[in-house]
Amino acid sequence: MADLRTEFVGIKSPNPFWLASAPPTDKAYNVVRAYKEGWGGVVWKTLGEDGPPVVNVSGPRYGAMHAGDRRLVGLNNIELITDRPLEINLQEIKQVKRDWPDRALVVSLMVPCVEESWKAILKRVEETEADGVELNFGCPHGMSERGMGSAVGQVPEYIEMVARWCKTHTRMPVIVKLTPNITDIRYPARAAKAGGADAVSLINTVSSIIGVDIDTFAPLPTIDGKGSHGGYCGPAVKPIALNMTAEIARDRETRGLPISGIGGVTTWRDAVEFMALGAGTVQVCTAAMTYGFRIVKDMIEGLSQYMDERGFRSVEEIVGRAVPNVTDWQYLNLNYVAKAKIDQDLCIECGRCHIACEDTSHQAITSMKDGKRHFEVIDEECVGCNLCVSVCPVEDCITMVPQTAGVDPRTGLANDRPYANWTTHPNNPMARPAAEVVAEPAE
Ligand SMILES: Cc1cc2nc3c(=O)[nH]c(=O)nc-3n(C[C@H](O)[C@H](O)[C@H](O)COP(=O)(O)O)c2cc1C
Ligand code: SF4
Ligand code: SF4
Repeated sequence: MADLRTEFVGIKSPNPFWLASAPPTDKAYNVVRAYKEGWGGVVWKTLGEDGPPVVNVSGPRYGAMHAGDRRLVGLNNIELITDRPLEINLQEIKQVKRDWPDRALVVSLMVPCVEESWKAILKRVEETEADGVELNFGCPHGMSERGMGSAVGQVPEYIEMVARWCKTHTRMPVIVKLTPNITDIRYPARAAKAGGADAVSLINTVSSIIGVDIDTFAPLPTIDGKGSHGGYCGPAVKPIALNMTAEIARDRETRGLPISGIGGVTTWRDAVEFMALGAGTVQVCTAAMTYGFRIVKDMIEGLSQYMDERGFRSVEEIVGRAVPNVTDWQYLNLNYVAKAKIDQDLCIECGRCHIACEDTSHQAITSMKDGKRHFEVIDEECVGCNLCVSVCPVEDCITMVPQTAGVDPRTGLANDRPYANWTTHPNNPMARPAAEVVAEPAE
């Protein structure tokens, strides 16, 4: 049986599945229920400064994006940080940590960009004996307008400064939670590292308007006729989060910096993908809000089975395994050829692939043969773009088949030509001599 135990910046948990700072970790009641179901750790809903708590709207605070089958694929929210008194949260954190010593309990924090404010709250959190803190530099709505959350996360100098204050004023591990609402994630990650942060976590939510009511012309969710932008998360944001995770994992300056991966994790497979791209743990919010805490059981079972089948003894062995395979476009093999192939036994003759290829790709799929509907790839035209695979409603009905021998009937060139990339291609005005072809520059 695979060992799912994880140690992340010195914080131990029985498995890598943590709940992200959000409604599922808002209070002891939820967190205890989550631990009972098997969650390895939680990041407590973000705490703010002592004093009167923030106030949430009392109308709709969520909006959703659904797939055709009503499955929730994206969630938008305009909720703020915790609206419960600081003292109550701290008392609950202390009690929960005492009762569940084997689970990770990290406390998310967001206070004004003033050293004294950070110093004061860190002292209070330390007294709870929580395992660490996560600095919420990511929330894109409500708090950012007050100079906190993503307003800090968008300025690398502020990230570095606050991370340094926190490292100065606490012995607890400091995780910096990053916002995706920036142009290049490497800069905030580098700043977190420069400030001494032990790790980064990402992503927080993506700034968004989920929709507009076209009768009232008000953005959704609507509060008394008005709406404001919110934060988008759930399965739809996973590709953004995976890319940002990989960017940090392979950046020369941040390579090796521990990462907690967040964004759309719904199944054990999603978790493995984040880990393969460098995440040591994953955090989950939307999936728990959609399906409840029990989903962690499937995650644990699925990950264990996958690891046993693949012969991985520890989670560590998965972390970063895909990073060497992430490269820049210019290093992709331009001599690699693949062609679409339709399994005639699986095809239901819906015609989607034909229309997609005919109207928007390379006119490489037939629609008729001998007066009957028939869908077949014309190798002479197929550029291997994968659009037909993407639109076909039947899984595995169309596959991309690598061409390793013979001649490509589209180009007349041999299919087994050696690796060559854009850096030496004759069409590239900046090309180097072909003899110099490299897969990636040596570091
Ligand atoms: C309703 C809601 C409230 C959230 N509140 C917080 C918060 O207080 N602090 C924080 O760091 N992130 C907060 N988040 C962001 C999540 O922790 C997480 O980064 C994001 O939802 C992406 O993960 P997911 O795709 O699994 O939902 C919130 C998300 C939602 C949906
Ligand atoms: S891979 Fe692209 S070009 Fe080839 S058949 Fe499919 S859609 Fe057409
Ligand atoms: S989209 Fe798929 S099922 Fe539909 S015709 Fe094409 S191959 Fe057949």
